[in-house]
Amino acid sequence: MRKPVIAGNWKMYKLLSEAVDTALALKPLVANANHCEVVIAPVFVHLKTVADRLEGSNIRVAAQDCSTEVKEGAHTGEVSAQMIEDVGASHVIIGHSERRQFYGETDESVNKKTKAALSFGLTAIVCVGEMLAERESGNAESVVKTQLVGATDGLTVSDMERIIIAYEPVWAIGTGKVATPEQAQEMHGFIRRTVSERHGKEIADATRILYGGSVKPDNIAGLMHQADIDGALVGGASLEAESFAQIVNFK
Ligand code: PGA
Repeated sequence: MRKPVIAGNWKMYKLLSEAVDTALALKPLVANANHCEVVIAPVFVHLKTVADRLEGSNIRVAAQDCSTEVKEGAHTGEVSAQMIEDVGASHVIIGHSERRQFYGETDESVNKKTKAALSFGLTAIVCVGEMLAERESGNAESVVKTQLVGATDGLTVSDMERIIIAYEPVWAIGTGKVATPEQAQEMHGFIRRTVSERHGKEIADATRILYGGSVKPDNIAGLMHQADIDGALVGGASLEAESFAQIVNFK
């Protein structure tokens, strides 16, 4: 019922030729992956080239962020959701923990960006996740709930149908310290219950919730066997076509 999504977040890696080479190498390796949706997220300046080169394939392209501003205007350095859609991307990652930690992203800006993305038909991949200290002090659920409620504030049922949630515990990102499948499942179950309380069971049952944080070819299967894990947002292991393809083609 919920089609899994495997998304690769390339962060600030790769020059244009490297991004194109990786995308083209990935294409045949995931061509038969009908069991899931495959998404890659290069940097803004590579979006159009990568999207063009992947046209007709089963790989979708995502931006890693978008502006809170919906209309064009005097916003130096910003890139609007409409511009992202216009160059051939279909998804946008919003509220990644690196943006929350280092670039001043707040629940309010995540909410605005999510609405901007949805208003131009993009699928928003909304990231939530607690820091290590928050988990250790027993506050992981309340932190994630606050982020989730903030991100989805004011969204309609049809909006909710077009968002994907990514649970990424900050202590697991880029650290090699993956959450155990049970730890991840516990939080995914909590997120789904929270969506159900706020938006109804039907929406909650249809919402894809991805896990992110040190996902690798050798741990994806254990994660994907959990009832409420519907895919992965992959950083480091998405940079090489072979390892990302192994994650996509998990068994
Ligand atoms: P990682 O990154 O897979 O390298 O831990 C995940 C992410 O930041 O989305």
